[in-house]
Amino acid sequence: MVAIAAQFTAEAYPQVHRNASFKVPGPEDVKHFRSFLDDDEVLEAPKGDDEALVSFNQDWMNKYRGQSNLVLLPKSTEKVSKIMKYCNEQKLAVVPQGGNTDLVGASVPVFDEIILSLKQMNKIREFDPVSGAFKCDAGVVMKDAHQFLRDNDHIFPLDLPSRNACQVGGVVSTNAGGLNLLRYGSLHGNVLGLEVVLPNGEIISNIDALRKDNTGYDLKQLFIGAEGTIGVITGVSILAAAKPKAFNNVFIGLESFDVVQTLFVKAKKELSEILSAFEFMDKGSIKCTIEYLKDMPFLLKNEHNFYVLIETSGSNQDHDSEKLNTFIQSALDEKLISEAKVSANMDEYNTIWTWRKSVPPACNSYGGMYKYDMSLKLKDLYSVSEAVTKRLDAAGLIGDAPKPIVASVGYGHVGDGNIHLNIAVREFTKQIEDLLEPFVYEYIQSKKGSISAEHGVGFHKHGHLHYCRSEIEIRFMKEIKKHYDPNAILNPYKYV
Ligand code: LAC
Ligand code: ZN
Repeated sequence: MVAIAAQFTAEAYPQVHRNASFKVPGPEDVKHFRSFLDDDEVLEAPKGDDEALVSFNQDWMNKYRGQSNLVLLPKSTEKVSKIMKYCNEQKLAVVPQGGNTDLVGASVPVFDEIILSLKQMNKIREFDPVSGAFKCDAGVVMKDAHQFLRDNDHIFPLDLPSRNACQVGGVVSTNAGGLNLLRYGSLHGNVLGLEVVLPNGEIISNIDALRKDNTGYDLKQLFIGAEGTIGVITGVSILAAAKPKAFNNVFIGLESFDVVQTLFVKAKKELSEILSAFEFMDKGSIKCTIEYLKDMPFLLKNEHNFYVLIETSGSNQDHDSEKLNTFIQSALDEKLISEAKVSANMDEYNTIWTWRKSVPPACNSYGGMYKYDMSLKLKDLYSVSEAVTKRLDAAGLIGDAPKPIVASVGYGHVGDGNIHLNIAVREFTKQIEDLLEPFVYEYIQSKKGSISAEHGVGFHKHGHLHYCRSEIEIRFMKEIKKHYDPNAILNPYKYV
């Protein structure tokens, strides 16, 4: 059971209609699936039981909830292929699902789509310690990929607050950026190859791809960030990096977003090759996190307008520590920063990361949240948070209960020019949503930003791409969707 039952998406968004050309899944379909799937690969909700499959139907923010009565959990690519071939022939709509931690309503059904969960495809396939190529099934949980690679003196090139639940295939389908993009780059660079089942059941695979391959269109790139709309990723080959010998981090209090930028420039210059993360959080993010981590003493003595987490990873502990300490001392001397807590050991290092990684669950802990994920020029990055907070505050919606909004906060990845705006709410209301949209999108458009830096489009931003993509780009996207999925059965009502 999930803690809070979301309203059914179909009821909350009555303007979205079920595609009448899709067949309603029935007993004969289940019978067919059972003819080649084991008992533990088929989950059916008992008739009239809305709750049985809620953890598959409802999203992590408690914002979207589908009404599927059928979850298929195949254990092999061949079975995924058979499922898709049948669904395509029968016009049964399908929503692929990984760890269901997505933040745009992409991984849950809108109506009665069959849920295709990859969670039983969870084997690590192969690792080459010389090249660093790591191959695994799509359903491997990210923390298990991290653990395996750490045991082999390597690291997974991406980390996320949801690492204990999210799955490698889902992360690639989302094209998540995460906490270390600054160092290791995006999945468009790190993914070496993919195995994908197309909507008609065909398997397209270049999972054995080499580091370089310049023979024709790089088709795998299309599936990275496609949110399961043109194919189901079943296997991933990704380039793991050698594990750094030394990890250090520091949690900093400072007073303005201008200084955050100055500090970022200084960090790039002075920490250069060992800089591996530069994250920021505003005052409100940390206030919610202090409430959420209530038994954990906060890292700094005083409250500040902004906080920055800097991580270094390199090959020499003494050298890296000295470099980081010198950097911090000079920032203090220049009065750029007010206060700093440098980790003295791995426990402290992990504790410092806990304060950053807990911001999303903290904001979600009051009931749910409205979440926006934007790319902007660095100088404009925080302004969107200020503009939105001002607007919600002017409407008298933020404050103690019974006001619906607990806080409107901004945080994110400075190195990537990516801000996450979280509106932590006690309940979702039409009034809040109307104040937020299209305001947020128009604001981003006016600054030539992107309405999704890394969380994707999903159900939430479906139909809003024109705020940052041209007509011709959207037309090409629609043509690609039609080419791969002519019956539009894969993850409908989302994306383009
Ligand atoms: C983060 C995820 C939610 O950066 O994108 O916290
Ligand atoms: Zn993020």
